[in-house]
Amino acid sequence: MSLYFDVLTIFPQIILSYLQESILKRALDRGIVDVKVYNLRDYTMDKHKNVDDYPYGGGPGMVMKVEPFYRAIKDIKADGIERTVVMLTPQGRTFNQAIAKELAFCNKRLLLLCGRYEGIDERVRDLLVDDEISIGDYVLTGGELPALVMIDSMTRLMPDALGDEGSALQDSFSTGILDFPHYTRPAEFMGLKVPDVLISGNHKAIEMWRKEEALKRTLERRPDLIQKHKGALP
Ligand code: ADE
Repeated sequence: MSLYFDVLTIFPQIILSYLQESILKRALDRGIVDVKVYNLRDYTMDKHKNVDDYPYGGGPGMVMKVEPFYRAIKDIKADGIERTVVMLTPQGRTFNQAIAKELAFCNKRLLLLCGRYEGIDERVRDLLVDDEISIGDYVLTGGELPALVMIDSMTRLMPDALGDEGSALQDSFSTGILDFPHYTRPAEFMGLKVPDVLISGNHKAIEMWRKEEALKRTLERRPDLIQKHKGALP
């Protein structure tokens, strides 16, 4: 199983540098995920390679032009492979684990559009975009981090992507609730002891404790999740 992403940005290096480390690098090396990065400036026609211009109606900031996006998307799609074009914007639907799963297993390549400046010409949305994603109710300087958040969270859902480092199935939100507390050696640190049950060797009791702690933590910190996932709880 593989995931394919195309990323369109004026800062390819931001995307490429993150992909050169750790689990993402290994997933790329193993062919579990494939990411192609395109520089929007390569699709400009003027000698200054302008990707932005002044806003009609005035006001501060610049607006990203429609033509470079149009040319780039046409060029990327010229291979005939079907893609979902996703714009990263605070105005999109809010990304979460359910959307990560939906997009990871929909069997379609994602073409991620990273905006910068004050915004993107509305006609990019009207003509070229299939879906809009926000990673939360705050405003970043661009869509590159949100694109990486999507790539990262979807890659770790792929079988074999995490290797020995664990299973994506048990972590927070995959079960619908928060994760249980984890401990490793030493058994005591600054007077704080690892709970006896984890050292007991009693696997049934350990499993029970973990379920209880996960529920307790979720009730304390995110009671909204309990409401949302009532049917699916352990
Ligand atoms: N671009 C700027 N802020 C963003 C956000 N919160 N989510 C997605 N794209 C963005």
